Amino acid sequence: MSDQPTQPSATEQSHVIVIDDSKMKQRFLKAILENDYIVHTFSSVREAQPHFEDIAPSCFLMDMERPGEDSVASIRTVKDNPKLSEVPIIMVTPTSDVETEHRVLECGCDDYVGNRFAPEIIRARVNHLVELFEFRKNLKIRVEQKTQSVMELQDAIMLMLSDLVECRDSFTSGHAQRTRDYVECLVCQLQANQSYVSELHDEFVRDLVRAAPLHDIGKVGIADAILNKPGKLTSEEFDTMKMHTTIGAQAISHAMNKLHENSFLRVLRDLAMSHHERWDGTGYPFGLRGTSIPLSGRIMAIPDVYDALVSERPYKKPFPHEKAVSIIKEGIGSHFDPLIGQAFLDCELQFRFISMHQDHSEAENQAS
Ligand SMILES: [Fe+2]
Ligand SMILES: [Fe+2]
Repeated sequence: MSDQPTQPSATEQSHVIVIDDSKMKQRFLKAILENDYIVHTFSSVREAQPHFEDIAPSCFLMDMERPGEDSVASIRTVKDNPKLSEVPIIMVTPTSDVETEHRVLECGCDDYVGNRFAPEIIRARVNHLVELFEFRKNLKIRVEQKTQSVMELQDAIMLMLSDLVECRDSFTSGHAQRTRDYVECLVCQLQANQSYVSELHDEFVRDLVRAAPLHDIGKVGIADAILNKPGKLTSEEFDTMKMHTTIGAQAISHAMNKLHENSFLRVLRDLAMSHHERWDGTGYPFGLRGTSIPLSGRIMAIPDVYDALVSERPYKKPFPHEKAVSIIKEGIGSHFDPLIGQAFLDCELQFRFISMHQDHSEAENQAS
């Protein structure tokens, strides 16, 4: 994709729809515009409507007074169609007094031409609005393409970072990617249960699922001797290990200072900081309680614990799915948010499916 701005080509293959019950005026308007546009003529909105989307017009020219049709309703027919809502409408008015012009603009038209039918004025007004429309359309496409490319870049960087975290921690290989799938599944169930409806909007969910593999990013700051210790950690080592939450959050906060506002980094920072907090306030690093724990951390707590339970560690064999479910069930209301715990119980079979279809032992063998 070129970085050069796309030049609007207002007169190249653009389509204009003329709606007028007078065949004479249809011919007149078509004659004025047909050198520059592909002009489609209809006698009424009702007649034209089935062809709107096939034609994909860049402008409408509508007669103000057509027998049996309400002009305001006609304009709404176009403006309420999501595919046509930005297409300009020029109303052809029988008179051009101030009151009529005001009424035409108020009912949603973009411009008007009086009944004098000066060809150069009609052409200039159509050209102007078509150029503007095409420019906006091209700009929108370019913004969408750029947004998509930024998202792909972010995903690639996320994957690279989560791979780096996993390289450091040889006991939890595959954990990062599995938690993404678990989180996605849990969020779907929360939405199905109508829990945290206002918080679980599309942008938050997208950011949370993408951020999930990086919840342990702070582990890159923990010494190998602790991170890869083949046995249970001492209390002091565990205190050091707990610091992966604040190390990760600080690094993300540092990146956030360089940006004006970024919802993804905010979700990632909250997630990295709070995924070991507990509902009853006995977690770390801050001992936050209940809903003062960010929702991202409360959601991640369950996939994080589930995956640790069903995976092998140097100090334990993998627990069967049923045992992991019963341990999490016991922790609902103390360790885990009750609504999120309930959602987990409602979709625990999907957790088992995700767990079974990602070979923990193979991933761990590769890493060791
Ligand atoms: Fe963690
Ligand atoms: Fe984790």
